[in-house]
Amino acid sequence: MFITLEGIEGAGKSTQLPRLCCWLEGLGLSVLVSREPGGSPLGCQLRPLLLDARNRDLTPESELFLYMADRAQHVRRVIMPALAAGKVVLCDRFADSTVAYQGFGRGVDLEQLAAMNQLAQAGLSPDLTLLFDLEPEVGLARARARNAHTGLGEAEGRFEALELDFHRRVRQGYLELARRQAWRYRIVDAAREPDAVFEQARAFIAAALAG
Ligand code: TYD
Repeated sequence: MFITLEGIEGAGKSTQLPRLCCWLEGLGLSVLVSREPGGSPLGCQLRPLLLDARNRDLTPESELFLYMADRAQHVRRVIMPALAAGKVVLCDRFADSTVAYQGFGRGVDLEQLAAMNQLAQAGLSPDLTLLFDLEPEVGLARARARNAHTGLGEAEGRFEALELDFHRRVRQGYLELARRQAWRYRIVDAAREPDAVFEQARAFIAAALAG
């Protein structure tokens, strides 16, 4: 089973990922936790280019191609082999991030983007996508506090630095995707306390495993 976690900055995906992994392993499942960008050795080299707040001159098109390179490598070298080995793959962001951020956020043509994603994904689509949804004001405040705390504000804060309207468009993009592909989407109320968020995410995954 291929499960992706999506949402705006500060939605709490990265906090929940290890907990969800522990719970799944406790059920006796073999789990691979990964993320985009940066889920493969090549991706680890691309990630700093994509997230560095000092990279202000990156055009939306260059940004898009870098995310696609990251995904094409990640799908073929990491995700597909893990699924073939019978693992559950839990991935922090995947193709829907490109639709939400580069499509709805930056305004790249959605049809062109879908064709590129198709090539990068090699026919692979998530079985379940958890959308961690919350107000962008709340998410951004959380993400900025985290960056200040870890000292990663400059190195990883390129998107956090964008204006609120950008993040509102990204959120609307996700909600639109969730409407269009309701069969694989489940919306988690990410504004709640971490334990409540975990319970809701866990219940959605448990239902998908049972189905
Ligand atoms: P990350 O630090 O992983 O963000 P978060 O902790 O919020 O998940 O950084 C990933 C950033 O890259 C995030 O701001 C969203 C952006 N992104 C895109 O714009 N397009 C994409 O296709 C992907 C995978 C990520």
